[in-house]
Amino acid sequence: MAPSHTSTLPLDAESSAALARTGLEYALVDADGDGFPSFLTSVTRGFLGEEPTPEQIETARTALRTRRLTGVFDRAGEQPDAPVATIDSWVSELTVSPGRTTPLWSISAVTVAPTHRRRGIATAMLTGELRTAAAAGYALAGLTVTEATIYGRWGFSPAAWASSVAVDTRRARWTGPTAPGRLDFVPRESLPERLSAVHERLRVRRPGAVPGWDSRWRGIAGLIPEAPDAKKVRAVAYRDPAGVERGILVYTIAEREEYTAHELQVRALFADGDEALAALWRFALEHDLVGKVTAELQPAVPPVQWMVSDRRAVTATLTDHHWLRVLDVPGALASRSYAGELDLVFGIDDALGFAHGSWRVRIDAAGDASVAREETEPDVRMPVGSLASLLLGGVRATELAAAGLVQGAAEHLGAIDGAFAPAAAPLLDIWY
Ligand SMILES: CC(C)(COP(=O)(O)OP(=O)(O)OC[C@H]1O[C@@H](n2cnc3c(N)ncnc32)[C@H](O)[C@@H]1OP(=O)(O)O)[C@@H](O)C(=O)NCCC(=O)NCCS
Repeated sequence: MAPSHTSTLPLDAESSAALARTGLEYALVDADGDGFPSFLTSVTRGFLGEEPTPEQIETARTALRTRRLTGVFDRAGEQPDAPVATIDSWVSELTVSPGRTTPLWSISAVTVAPTHRRRGIATAMLTGELRTAAAAGYALAGLTVTEATIYGRWGFSPAAWASSVAVDTRRARWTGPTAPGRLDFVPRESLPERLSAVHERLRVRRPGAVPGWDSRWRGIAGLIPEAPDAKKVRAVAYRDPAGVERGILVYTIAEREEYTAHELQVRALFADGDEALAALWRFALEHDLVGKVTAELQPAVPPVQWMVSDRRAVTATLTDHHWLRVLDVPGALASRSYAGELDLVFGIDDALGFAHGSWRVRIDAAGDASVAREETEPDVRMPVGSLASLLLGGVRATELAAAGLVQGAAEHLGAIDGAFAPAAAPLLDIWY
């Protein structure tokens, strides 16, 4: 059983040595210690943000207390105690198929100071995280990315996608269902609890999802210190006819020159059920003085397309969102349930070694997988990133094969397509 607290696991010796060879020190940072303000200052600089205020530092300390914080220090520099690179990680839970979750080594706050870029620091930090996670028994690592060009080299690959949606409300007459429940404005202060309650019910049904956490919800609610637009944040909750709260919409309205065509910007729209979904989208689209509704992190084919008179009033721009890295092939593949039987040998190429080799993947009639090492010639070959992309069923083997990212006979690729078909399209609806 993998440990759930990771901050006490030792630093990876290989990365410590690699960094030491270039005069740098790899060290854990205590969220409650004196080094935390410099750690956070380096993180915000890496993401081009402002220097954090004392209040923001204390808020972040609370939020990051459960994480493993690691810094890289250049002790010969002008600020020897301020890290020149940062990374943090924690244990989360990935939904792999409806109702089934598996531990996920989650990574964030990856920054390298521009003064120290392209010297292999990110490589040392990322490979260090992966070795630490694998040694502790985690089958999967994950992250969300600012650029799609960085993480493939370490075996990460997109496994869940999300759309940015924009709706021209003047073309989008509501044709969807009429929800029987009611909508009410709810106070901002109540949102962290409300968002968490609805999201906890949703995320276990949706492959690709992970749980949120208090400061994520506080951020959406505009309740973190100096949050921009905080006072413009509004929220409505949907209750079903039995009085159970089933959905929540958090939004701001950005004013545009034309006073009847402002933009309603969705900060969160979480719906537990079709009625709540319809009620909240209808509220957004029919809001007076609004000409456009925008929402991030929506399903690849957003359901609102089917709820309006003119489907082309809805545009959805797809992007990769949740990147996964397979560290343990049997552990990762056995975590989910499948749509069909399979018996094939997968040959995985993994330059970092974790998943490398041939694996017999057997999926039984109940949809459960068992995987074991095998010495025979593989039926299909792929780089480790392709395995991560196939895992949740968000892309098919035949599609990856067309790009040369999986190789095998058409019948084998078709069999994988059938078995890996997801019960629901993978989606990650938050950033982490
Ligand atoms: C992205 C970042 C962490 C890379 O750090 P780094 O220490 O310069 O990376 P490394 O020296 O280990 O480089 C590793 C490889 O990645 C490549 N690489 C690094 N950053 C890249 C980028 N932004 N785009 C494309 N390639 C990149 C390097 O060229 C190098 O390639 P190679 O293995 O073929 O030689 C750093 O540029 C950064 O802090 N950026 C701003 C914050 C950010 O975007 N963080 C990522 C959040 S998801």
